[in-house]
Amino acid sequence: MEYSELVIEHFQNPRNVGVIEDADGTGKMGSPVCGDLMEIYIKVDNNHIADIKFRTFGCGAAIASGSMASEMIKGQTLAEAEALTDEDVAKALGGLPEKKMHCSNLAASTLHNAIEDYRNTHDEDKR
Ligand code: FES
Repeated sequence: MEYSELVIEHFQNPRNVGVIEDADGTGKMGSPVCGDLMEIYIKVDNNHIADIKFRTFGCGAAIASGSMASEMIKGQTLAEAEALTDEDVAKALGGLPEKKMHCSNLAASTLHNAIEDYRNTHDEDKR
């Protein structure tokens, strides 16, 4: 399977790349499959993802996955963002080759890690 036009487009023009210095939650993950890294920064307002940035030291599919995932969850509630799966990201990109599914998993896992970080540092019940 070759890359879809959407994967190529997001790889060439990735959305929401960068760092949020005063992020409310930060996720950092390494893929157990290939060792590539991703970081995701979120700002949360009234239980919604108000802003998101990502950066990755990963492949083109990881860049496209981070870009697509960030577009998909911006403005969503934390619960909606937490429900995002690697398959959701891959599907939104028009599919990924089987051996590249871990790249979309890296994006979803790092996002979940950022939300967990937000909950651990902001949720009164968890402090
Ligand atoms: Fe590992 Fe894409 S090859 S993140």
